[in-house]
Amino acid sequence: MIDASLQDRVRALVAERRPGFSLPRDFYVDEALFRVDEEAVFAAEWLFACNACEIAEPGDWLTLRIAGASVVVLRDRDGAVRAFHNTCRHRGSRLCLGEKGHANRLVCPYHQWVYELDGRLLDARQMPTDFDPSGYGLKPAHCTVIAGLVYVCVAEEPPSIERFRAAVEPYIAPHRPDRTKVAHVSIIVEEANWKLVIENNRECYHCAANHPELLVTLVEFALPDDPRATAQFDRLMSGARARWDALGLPHAPADGGVEFRCIRLPFNEGGVSFTLDGGPACRKLLGDFTDPDLGSVRMFRAPNAWHHFLADHILHFRVTPLSADRTEVRTTWLVHEDAVEGVDYDLERLTAVWTATNDQDRVLAENNHRGILSRAYEPGPYAPSEFMLANFADWYAGRLADRFGAPASRLEAAE
Ligand code: FES
Ligand SMILES: [Fe+2]
Repeated sequence: MIDASLQDRVRALVAERRPGFSLPRDFYVDEALFRVDEEAVFAAEWLFACNACEIAEPGDWLTLRIAGASVVVLRDRDGAVRAFHNTCRHRGSRLCLGEKGHANRLVCPYHQWVYELDGRLLDARQMPTDFDPSGYGLKPAHCTVIAGLVYVCVAEEPPSIERFRAAVEPYIAPHRPDRTKVAHVSIIVEEANWKLVIENNRECYHCAANHPELLVTLVEFALPDDPRATAQFDRLMSGARARWDALGLPHAPADGGVEFRCIRLPFNEGGVSFTLDGGPACRKLLGDFTDPDLGSVRMFRAPNAWHHFLADHILHFRVTPLSADRTEVRTTWLVHEDAVEGVDYDLERLTAVWTATNDQDRVLAENNHRGILSRAYEPGPYAPSEFMLANFADWYAGRLADRFGAPASRLEAAE
């Protein structure tokens, strides 16, 4: 699918890349390179799919696009979360249509082959008596659940996700993502390359000029010892650290290398949640929490998701590339499974900050993409506070080098 000349081009572009600088233009705008991303990144890596509570009951299913194809994630009768390629074993029709649904059994809309929730083919009407359905079960995709978050991988041999699991579970499990319910989902399409959507999320250099709602409570600094930090932040941090330690909540930056990031950081003085006045967004706190002021666990995992885990709600952001210049961003707001809308939380209050922020980020990413279309574009240097973009670019280049081999100049240098 990715022919030799395209592979040569990828190797040349990876060689041309300057670490610490934004990527060469084609990585952001070229359709052939987009196919490379789908193949070498999205079809190769573990991807965040959804919260397991989105498929709470046996027969609940949800689809997601991976590298141009569809995968269905569902809850089996035995409670297990499973993933299958969303293609019928008769003549390949898509089986589950739409984003979500519920079915006792999966019935293909084309000729009604019927599949059990564990993927077995149960019935293929009018097929000859010697037809053996056991050879025509749905093809599984790899699937795992980490503290209530569902991850899927369509690679034949998935990379290990265990280092990520071990590192982040202690941070996120106390928020009990497995005991939440969806309060709201928003899906927007940004006219920008997926890497620009990720890059935009990986820095807060742009926050002061663009996110008044977010900055009511979000601290712009990304590290407990951020070199830009003020004395006020240092005081805030040391007070928060003492409270978190007393509650046994981990907060120091997890060592995720360039693959992932997980850290707990406080909100601005007096703020406890993502609301326009900084007050709580939901009266019923998550898990066993009694203190509404726990800051937030900020978690990112390449290539497709970032999250916030607060005392009163959880946010998942999932990025799906649609083409070189279109990217879907799906945001999910989750509250305690027993929280009642209108009693414990008001939907408008809960969603106002990130609805505004997402839209502001959409405009920024779209402007970034349009600017890169200029023939005058050349990669520019990341600021020190954009260290997470440098990490992401290194991670991305690493995936391409793993897949297509290191550029010739690197091989020679290594000899
Ligand atoms: S393609 Fe599914 S039953 Fe024919
Ligand atoms: Fe932003």
